[in-house]
Amino acid sequence: MPTTQRRQLIQRSHIDSRIDDDPDDLVVGESDQIPSSYSCLLWLALAVVIVGCATVMVPEVPVSADGTQDPVLVQGRDVYAKRCANCHRHDGTGSRGPRVTGELMIETYPAIAAQVDIVANGKALMPAFADALTQAEIEAVTRFTREVL
Ligand code: HEC
Repeated sequence: MPTTQRRQLIQRSHIDSRIDDDPDDLVVGESDQIPSSYSCLLWLALAVVIVGCATVMVPEVPVSADGTQDPVLVQGRDVYAKRCANCHRHDGTGSRGPRVTGELMIETYPAIAAQVDIVANGKALMPAFADALTQAEIEAVTRFTREVL
């Protein structure tokens, strides 16, 4: 087949396929559309689930023999879930920030004060928390990494 004829054929089929694309097919029927107020609620629900999961996945503070949890560690867990898990992972195994699990932290910082200092004042890409958290919260979250993670 001569090239010009083939080109005409190709152009023709191109036009045909455009004609075949009935624009009505592309319009979503009203019944298929989710009203915008509903979709807002759906996004909100999704956000709550995601945030909720992040908190739930952070390991629980173990219950001691007398059936209670150390309230300082519970506070530390709360701080960890809100402020640290996004970079150090929910279980402390690291993602953007390095691993901060118990044994490793105790080995790296035999004295807790040195680890508290890093959380308070930051280090390279690790943000400083001295302005955002109280000293008690910083100590609590540091204990949480050493004793629970
Ligand atoms: C924006 C991400 C980010 C957040 C949020 C964050 N960190 Fe970090 N963290 C890092 C990075 C990155 C490092 C590594 C810093 C370096 O040495 O270069 C680090 C280092 C550390 C270290 C030292 C680890 C080691 O092996 O020496 C500790 C401890 C630590 N972070 C604890 C925390 C705690 C506790 C929180 C929450 C209060 C927190 N981090 C929040 C990114 C983050």
